[in-house]
Amino acid sequence: MDSILVKGNGALSGTIPIAGAKNACLTLMPATLLSEEPLTLTNAPRLSDIATMTQLLQSLGAEVASLQDGLVLAMSSHNIANHTADYDIVRKMRASILVLGPMLARDGHAVVSLPGGCAIGARPVDLHLQAFEAMGAELDLRDGYVHAKAPGGRLRGAVVNFPFVSVGATENALMAATLAKGTTVLKNAAREPEIVDLARCLRKMGAQIEGEGTSTITIQGVDRLNGATHPVVTDRIELGTYMLVPAICGGEVECLGGTLELVGAFAEKLDAAGVSVTQTERGLKVSRKNGRVHAVDVVTEPFPGFPTDLQAQMMALLCTAEGTSVLEERIFENRFMHAPELTRMGAKIEVHGGTAKVTGVARLKGARVMATDLRASVSLILAALAAEGETVVSRVYHLDRGYERLEEKLRACGAQIERISQ
Ligand code: EPZ
Repeated sequence: MDSILVKGNGALSGTIPIAGAKNACLTLMPATLLSEEPLTLTNAPRLSDIATMTQLLQSLGAEVASLQDGLVLAMSSHNIANHTADYDIVRKMRASILVLGPMLARDGHAVVSLPGGCAIGARPVDLHLQAFEAMGAELDLRDGYVHAKAPGGRLRGAVVNFPFVSVGATENALMAATLAKGTTVLKNAAREPEIVDLARCLRKMGAQIEGEGTSTITIQGVDRLNGATHPVVTDRIELGTYMLVPAICGGEVECLGGTLELVGAFAEKLDAAGVSVTQTERGLKVSRKNGRVHAVDVVTEPFPGFPTDLQAQMMALLCTAEGTSVLEERIFENRFMHAPELTRMGAKIEVHGGTAKVTGVARLKGARVMATDLRASVSLILAALAAEGETVVSRVYHLDRGYERLEEKLRACGAQIERISQ
């Protein structure tokens, strides 16, 4: 397994290109199952999760070609030869559940392995299933699989009231509703930019959708969808992650492709901590206002609130801030696994359930640490960039799921970082 070696190297400055969003691409790709016509995605990120979704779609009989060094995904599913999403692939990546809605909508039946939990929580899919049942699907859970059928071969439009916001359930129901008979209204829908991007792509395919980006999305079902070409929206989580580099190390970084619209609440929190964020023509320019950042409190919420996927990274910054910060993780039940690893680097963190109290220290110290999940791993990298001495982060396969060419992007800003095979 690879590890990454980082030597704290003072202030970092330069430009970092931000890739297409992993979490948009992982819902845009299954949309190819909704149509017999080709769907081509551009600005796709080069990540292991995208390779996993490619493998899954191919196992269902879709054609997926990765072109231009992975930036373009040319997909088509003239027919779905196999309607079973196998556990061996699904267990590697929870987003696999997003093939269920499209298959059910297109052909009236599907069998998809339940994804199981992951490091950050149990992560059930009950809201996804609730939505499909509301749309007339008959679901049978057995042997760890969801066996889904639409009576008469077609879902019907329905009003779906989500008891709480779920990004994946909103995406799954949105895709299914495009081919249902009649009108579907999704209430308490997720408002993330990835949902807006999916709706825009589906509309290009001929779907009739209104209200994406708000809590109520209305879809008029159509009989068939066409093909389309669509650029994947910029990755707001990669963007936020790299905005923290000059915040934690000093220096000035311009994140190409970044917009304030994608990271509103996060940028406001950085501003409150003493980090300036400026929109330029090319992206977002970030630097400290003056000297050390200071403590701020953080509560994670669905968009447009502070993103849970930036909580671990923000904690790394606050470990070096002046004062005490309180971070409350309201989305996942076990998303502080980076805390004990940061503590090995000298951080002062007290975790009580879903709340972490962080007392800033002047400088973290390099240490051997272990990545536990995607966002925890990059939080350790950020801490290591600012720490005194050397840090070795092990199990970096987590990192490769969500950050393309991370070492290359950071070295371009002066970081001393390299991958070591162990
Ligand atoms: C998406 O996961 C993202 N993944 C996650 O990013 C992100 O953290 C999350 O949304 C929240 O923004 C992708 O888009 C591939 P949810 P998702 O359904 O859809 C519970 C990353 O690091 N829940 O909004 O799975 C769930 O357990 C990843 O890139 C149910 O109880 O998130 C969680 O506590 C991590 N039942 C909360 O709701 C359900 O049916 C929010 O989950 C669905 C969800």
